[in-house]
Amino acid sequence: MANMRSLISFIVLSLGLLAAAESPISPYNLHEKRTHIPAEWSLQRRHEPTSVLPLRFALTQSNMDNLEELLMDVSHPKSSNYGNHWTPGQVLKTFAPSEETISAVRNWILENGFEEERVKVASNKGWIEVDATTEEAERLLQTEYNLYTHSTGKNHVACNAYHLPYHIQPHVDFVTPTVHFDAKITRRSDEPARSIGQPIFGSSPKTTGAVDDAVLISPTDVSTCDEYITPACLRALYSFNYTPVATSKNSYGIVEYTPEAYLQTDINLFAMNFSEGLYGKAPYMVSIDGGYAQTEYQNFSYNGESDLDLQYGMDLVTPAQQVTLYQVGDMVEGASFNNFLDALDGSYCTFEGGDDYTQDSKYPDTAPGGYDGPEACGTATPTYVISTSYAYDEADLTPFYSARQCAEYAKLGLMGVTILYSSGDYGVAGNGGLCLNPNGTQTLDGTMFNPTFPGTCPYITSVGATQVNPGSTVYEPEGACEQVIYSGGGFSNYFAMPSYQKEAVDYYLANYYPDYPATMWNSTGISRAYPDIAANGANYVVAIDGAFELVYGTSCSSPVSGAIFTMINDARLAAGKSSIGFINPTIYSTDFSGLFNDITMGDNPGCGTNGYNATPGWDPVTGLGTLNFDKLVAQWLTLP
Ligand SMILES: *[C@@H]1O[C@H](CO)[C@@H](O)[C@H](O)[C@H]1NC(C)=O
Ligand SMILES: *[C@@H]1O[C@H](CO)[C@@H](O)[C@H](O)[C@H]1NC(C)=O
Ligand SMILES: *[C@@H]1O[C@H](CO)[C@@H](O)[C@H](O)[C@H]1NC(C)=O
Ligand SMILES: *[C@@H]1O[C@H](CO)[C@@H](O)[C@H](O)[C@H]1NC(C)=O
Repeated sequence: MANMRSLISFIVLSLGLLAAAESPISPYNLHEKRTHIPAEWSLQRRHEPTSVLPLRFALTQSNMDNLEELLMDVSHPKSSNYGNHWTPGQVLKTFAPSEETISAVRNWILENGFEEERVKVASNKGWIEVDATTEEAERLLQTEYNLYTHSTGKNHVACNAYHLPYHIQPHVDFVTPTVHFDAKITRRSDEPARSIGQPIFGSSPKTTGAVDDAVLISPTDVSTCDEYITPACLRALYSFNYTPVATSKNSYGIVEYTPEAYLQTDINLFAMNFSEGLYGKAPYMVSIDGGYAQTEYQNFSYNGESDLDLQYGMDLVTPAQQVTLYQVGDMVEGASFNNFLDALDGSYCTFEGGDDYTQDSKYPDTAPGGYDGPEACGTATPTYVISTSYAYDEADLTPFYSARQCAEYAKLGLMGVTILYSSGDYGVAGNGGLCLNPNGTQTLDGTMFNPTFPGTCPYITSVGATQVNPGSTVYEPEGACEQVIYSGGGFSNYFAMPSYQKEAVDYYLANYYPDYPATMWNSTGISRAYPDIAANGANYVVAIDGAFELVYGTSCSSPVSGAIFTMINDARLAAGKSSIGFINPTIYSTDFSGLFNDITMGDNPGCGTNGYNATPGWDPVTGLGTLNFDKLVAQWLTLP
């Protein structure tokens, strides 16, 4: 036995010498470093040399530099590959770490004396795992491990900095456990969850309260759409009267975050007055991370968003078309967009090191009453169109976190999925009317415009809000929404301008340059501009908690636009064509100009200003304008 071991060591040593001969100069470089210990953690002592650490090397992904090009190849209407969307397997294979990366890191670990059977490549190929004693890990990473204790008593092993050989660095994103303090700390009961479905989160729609006379409106009357929006008003505004024919091949996805939930009794009440055929119809619910349509808590904050999204989404695609409700997160910690994306694409769970538990929820949830099932990872199938009416401010999240999530939207686009997000309800300000300060904080008296995320991700379609102007009819042009809410819009501080919108945005900047100092907005002319399109967002008649209320927000605009795109998909699927997938390169293309109702009235105030103006052509209030279904479906049917 002893002989066998030394023989193996000898072989490993020889291989190590050979490899070293191939790359004689490979000094160690600093790979990651932490400047301070996070609050509430304190240093105890050096970690025991013989304690075992589960070392994990996150490998760098392939082809990320080509992501935009690959997406344009299947999404640009002039591309010969238009509509040739990818399978999830193709996506996984294209972006997984290369064999070269896997073997470089694996060989380097072997060269350092680890036996072959200890070095494992994870089944998704995103990680290399090796259980190492602290002593071994310290030698491998040229570091020192310490034990830290949190004020709650939890222990965590970490180092201040670690190093990798020069030739290994390009193959490794990072190593854990090292400098990261992402150990999950159970939330104290007085600390509210930051999950996006919570009532305290500032992106829900607004209401002016109950309207008793709504029940008197005829479901076909469009003479009072400036005061009450009903499905009939939207059909008239957007030339949208379509009966789907390919329903079995299609579905429309609407995402809700628990505790936000719909009530079937509200859908039924809405059906009785405005949507014959919807009575008793329920969405097809896909539960993610323990999500369910809770009925324990009921008021506008808990039911407003879901009731709105489903009543209008389900009516507009007609009761013949199934609507998929993705209900995400349990009642205790809720969930984030990343938790939803993990469910849609299993490869995202570990992509670039996986979720960030300072923002994202971790399952199983060990808190009392939490969902104790496994974290959803590739458990849900994406529908062709997915609408989400929740949003962060860009400044809430780090550039790395946002870029990682934004890349995932591009991958869904490669798979033929259209992703819609509401653009926000505070004009040029962020959620709750907060504006940016030069030091990056957000306050009500901040002076810099505050863009929303994912609205600024170039791989989603951002939807702003319009209104039927007071005293006008559905046959006259709408204006930007100026009742109760203002359409979110502006210029990103994180994302560069995608090529598909350059001409449209350049035209706006050349002809209607916003008269604000460069200290207030991103005036570089090279950043992603939003929204892309708009739809009505004022005076929606919605059944909520047993009564009709008037509801406002880009939260209305996104599900309505999604319903229209779902029916364009129906027409294409019926003709044996692909889904429309990532639509932005198409809708900004010259063949599609003039197919939108251009909005040229109104603005989007915020941060003590009037915001931007709606102008002819694209603008940072209403994008390209509202949809004209008849014109758009005809043009989309000319594409392969
Ligand atoms: C709306 O619903 C209420 C309650 O069911 C009913 O009394 C009323 O007649 C309905 N209105 C219309 C126009 O259908
Ligand atoms: C709904 O209830 C929650 C919790 O009790 C509260 O925070 C919220 O303000 C309420 N919302 C409305 C619109 O009453
Ligand atoms: C950031 O700037 C704002 C406004 O200038 C100020 O009120 C706030 O205290 C600053 N915060 C930090 C953390 O520096
Ligand atoms: C403006 O946007 C560009 C491109 O996204 C970015 O590089 C730059 O840092 C932004 N400027 C500010 C002040 O945030």
